[in-house]
Amino acid sequence: MSSERSLVLVKPDGVQRGISGAVISKLESRGLKIAGMKLFQISRDLATRHYGAHEGKPFFEGLVNFITSGPVVAMVVEGPRAVEIVRSTMGATDPLNAQPGTIRGDFGIEIGRNLVHGSDSLESAKHEINLFFSAGEIIDYDRDIDTWIIES
Ligand code: RTP
Ligand code: MG
Repeated sequence: MSSERSLVLVKPDGVQRGISGAVISKLESRGLKIAGMKLFQISRDLATRHYGAHEGKPFFEGLVNFITSGPVVAMVVEGPRAVEIVRSTMGATDPLNAQPGTIRGDFGIEIGRNLVHGSDSLESAKHEINLFFSAGEIIDYDRDIDTWIIES
């Protein structure tokens, strides 16, 4: 099956609470491959572009303030159906509805502090990866273990 790439962010609350490692670990143990990763603080300009689809909604201002409030860990993760696999590993947007075992279901309480971001479609993944990463920051490499994770 052909691979997809998705953009994952450990949001400022996740970095502050020291659960970046737990998020990375969950994605890695699911079988996803990390193709890019960096710690940095999102500018208001990047936040507005990243969350452009939500501009005008009542939570938009708070969302931009929050996502720019401290460093994030940004990752490009790769694997078959990576976009949906990431979303199911994160759990529902509101942690109240996120299943136990998911990142938001295990670590979150409120929708405005839901710890992680994952692209919601292949199209947004491509757009978001271009916003956050230059081509040279994404590494194409093989893992021997992939034959035990991916059938073909
Ligand atoms: P994200 O983009 O951050 O991965 O989250 P998502 O796809 O699960 O949810 P989305 O609908 O894209 O919303 C983006 C973020 O906005 C905040 N939000 N607050 N108060 C509200 O009704 C509300 N709705 C959304 C959440 O922090 C959500 O992650
Ligand atoms: Mg979203």
